[in-house]
Amino acid sequence: MAEPEDARRYLPSRGGIPAHRRAAADCRGCLLYEDATQTVFGAGDASARLMLVGEEPGDQEDREGEPFVGPAGRLLRRAADEADLDMDRAYVTNAVKHFKFRRTGPGKRRIHKAPSLGEMTACRPWLEAELRIVEPEVVVALGATAAKSLLGHGFRVTRHRGDALTLPEPVPATVVATLHPSAVLRADDREEAFSGLVADLKAAARALQQA
Ligand code: URA
Ligand code: SF4
Repeated sequence: MAEPEDARRYLPSRGGIPAHRRAAADCRGCLLYEDATQTVFGAGDASARLMLVGEEPGDQEDREGEPFVGPAGRLLRRAADEADLDMDRAYVTNAVKHFKFRRTGPGKRRIHKAPSLGEMTACRPWLEAELRIVEPEVVVALGATAAKSLLGHGFRVTRHRGDALTLPEPVPATVVATLHPSAVLRADDREEAFSGLVADLKAAARALQQA
């Protein structure tokens, strides 16, 4: 079989988030569908003013079919609470909709692997469709994958985190990039990393007030 190209031919020609979620369940726009349990599409308020974009579903998200329901999601909620950012009214999604992993150790535990540029590019039509439908005023890019997917491959989170930037396409919005909640979980100084995440989310809350 030839290498699949991207998600475009799986997108419905019309419909809102529910129609897109149903169509994405059968996406074979890249090879990540082969080993994952299911597509994890975005979730939340389809007319939200705030969209949060992660990297890809993790182990627990892959099993449950919902974004950010695992440890990274719990940390993100705590940080958002502290920043006065209401996650219950947000739309939450990922740059890549299938879990990528390798199996390791005696229990063959599934360990997260970062998506490749090809996979990010293949999956981008779903993210673009979500942006067009939800039309958020503020988008938070959680980590380098989300930030590159939204702002271009040359974008460096370390240089621009917490800045209010302009989303280049496909809809007008302010983007704030920050580190990924999983990076906080892995950091040597977790407390400092957590405070940094909260500070960036506060910048997103301010942008939301100004929008
Ligand atoms: N990490 C992500 O980037 N997204 C999720 O949904 C869960 C963990
Ligand atoms: Fe389709 Fe994205 Fe899954 Fe690849 S990762 S199969 S493009 S939904």
